[in-house]
Amino acid sequence: MHMGNQTEEELQQLAAVFPAKFVWGAATASYQIEGAAHEDGRGLSIWDRFATIPGKVQRGETGDIATDHYHHMHEDVELMASLGLKAYRFSIAWPRILPEGRGTINTRGLDFYERLVDALLAKGISPFATLYHWDLPVALQDQGGWLERSTAYAFADYAEIVARRLGDRLSGWITQNEPWCAAFLGYGIGVHAPGLEDQQAAITAGHHLLLSHGLAIPRLRAASKAGTPIGITLNLSPIYAADDAAETRQAFENADAFSNRWFLDPLYRGSYPEELFRARGLAHPPIQAGDMEIIATPTDFLGVNYYSRTLVAGGPEQKEPTNKPTLPGAEYTDMGWEIFPQGLTNLLLRLHNEYHVPSLYVTENGAAFKDHLNGDSVVSDPQRLDYLYKHIKAIGKAVAQGAPVHGYFVWSLLDNFEWAEGYSKRFGIVYVDYPTQRRIVKDSGHWYTAFLKAFEQAHSR
Ligand code: FCB
Repeated sequence: MHMGNQTEEELQQLAAVFPAKFVWGAATASYQIEGAAHEDGRGLSIWDRFATIPGKVQRGETGDIATDHYHHMHEDVELMASLGLKAYRFSIAWPRILPEGRGTINTRGLDFYERLVDALLAKGISPFATLYHWDLPVALQDQGGWLERSTAYAFADYAEIVARRLGDRLSGWITQNEPWCAAFLGYGIGVHAPGLEDQQAAITAGHHLLLSHGLAIPRLRAASKAGTPIGITLNLSPIYAADDAAETRQAFENADAFSNRWFLDPLYRGSYPEELFRARGLAHPPIQAGDMEIIATPTDFLGVNYYSRTLVAGGPEQKEPTNKPTLPGAEYTDMGWEIFPQGLTNLLLRLHNEYHVPSLYVTENGAAFKDHLNGDSVVSDPQRLDYLYKHIKAIGKAVAQGAPVHGYFVWSLLDNFEWAEGYSKRFGIVYVDYPTQRRIVKDSGHWYTAFLKAFEQAHSR
């Protein structure tokens, strides 16, 4: 079994860099793993609808069954415990709680997440819940979705309903997951649900997503145990200039405004970066009096999802925060994303130094590779193992330089429905054999367990 090239001593040295209370876990999202799309009163989400539009998802796959986590929940919690995870980040499907988006509450939906949270707690695993990981109830989409301001208010109501049930037991709330993706991929270029192709609409959707976050904060605080940390998760990609040409400098600023500052600036500075609108010839979103203050409501932490950097050269800026596999000597994952661990160090330090973020969690980090089941129980994934090791090391470097990072969640616990890529991309530290729904821990999962043991040892001395 490939367990990484590091000795136990080396793993302990790396682990010792992190504070004793550092939280180690894995992450998933409702639509990507749950399945049971039509059970126990669940309403439909925009992904149920989008996935059935021909050409939108590879091989026409959907999340109808996914990893069937809804029915394997107890087994999956056992698996987390056997891996030694100390925390689990999952998301709540809004349409399970409110099938019409607002109004009648489906208590069976709340019951499911309560069973999950209690099962986690029984195993000593800290639950972190994300309230929106892209599965908007279709009923709200039919009224305009995130283009409508009222959706932000519906989200805050939904957040409070969930908090009343689970708020006494959670270790953290994440309001929105990657509003950049929900807005730009969903409304700007249409590769994600709901599939619009209108960049001005993306700006509006982004504003209402941010507003929903700000509106939910006091509602969550009031209905949760005192001191439960509340944050938002952004996908961020540090920008690197490919050369020092003058146009590259401008492309750099534009790309940074687009990929990072679009959401960071409103949250931490109370304003949008002008470059975002100027570079793309777009207008400001419909901002009403008080909106920017609501959006900039102080939170307890920022969740950072990091996969890769963005490399820019002069001329038209890149449209997406990922690279095409073209750099000589660079390594890429199965998504075509460049493996660039030092980008994570730099990103965390920037959030600390420039945005003065009080607390950071890496809420997603991981890699897709082509995995194969060898025999009955072995999945050898040395590249993913190496990716995780290098990125944890990169976080350690940022911590050593003062970045207040308090936790790390591997994306993902399980192979799952990777949005427009369907099941073709595997991100899990646990392999899922879809025909049988059997879970097989990959070598990277075994390695993570060994690292978590080293962490315990390093801090029990
Ligand atoms: C992030 C998403 C997550 C997963 C990873 C690979 O953008 O939050 O659901 O798809 O990418």
